[in-house]
Amino acid sequence: MTQDELKQAVAREAVKYVVPGAWVGVGSGSTANCFIDELATIKGRIKGAVSSSVKSTERLRAHGIEVDELNNVDDVPVYIDGADEVTEHGAMIKGGGGALTREKIVAAVGRKFVCIVDASKLVPVLGKFPLPVEVIPMARSYVARELVHLGGQPAWRMGFTTDNGNVILDVSGLSITDPVALETAINQIPGVVTVGLFARRGADVILLGTEGGVRTLTPSVR
Ligand code: A5P
Repeated sequence: MTQDELKQAVAREAVKYVVPGAWVGVGSGSTANCFIDELATIKGRIKGAVSSSVKSTERLRAHGIEVDELNNVDDVPVYIDGADEVTEHGAMIKGGGGALTREKIVAAVGRKFVCIVDASKLVPVLGKFPLPVEVIPMARSYVARELVHLGGQPAWRMGFTTDNGNVILDVSGLSITDPVALETAINQIPGVVTVGLFARRGADVILLGTEGGVRTLTPSVR
């Protein structure tokens, strides 16, 4: 199977987690795009979607799926999104596409986080994929220096502005053995808007696309 076929397989499986008559939280990226296309097949059965990026909103609306502002929605039973890396404990690196802040907000509201990935994203330790950190533009150099103190090598994602008007530092060289502690530490740096570590609120369910079919992991400990 190609990587695209694996993404489509997990997207099809994820639709089974959507709660009829309720709002669904929708992530961003190529796997989330596959999910949006699948969601279109059951759009008559949901209230609508809350979205984590301008691009996902456009794709949802192109399918005729209603998208409302998160401020108007008080219950999101399930949030469905991809990841750049995930551990079997449900900790993730996200933000490769730059939508990490809105993803983290919608995920926080979501009662269940369903992570949809192909098998290449499952890792024993996070950090091979450079960790995205969204930063207020005037704090870029300061935050970069602080990230060096934490052992990372930050690189400015040149020419990229987030949906929130901020910049991204991609931090390589980290071996993230305690993702909750590192998420907390980076959150404390003034100027950081969001770190792409999703460990304090990780995945409740991981749908893993493998050659042998979709595996379902249910992390209980993070
Ligand atoms: C978007 O900002 C990211 O968090 C995505 O969820 C992540 O990069 C996974 O994207 P793909 O599904 O395209 O690999």
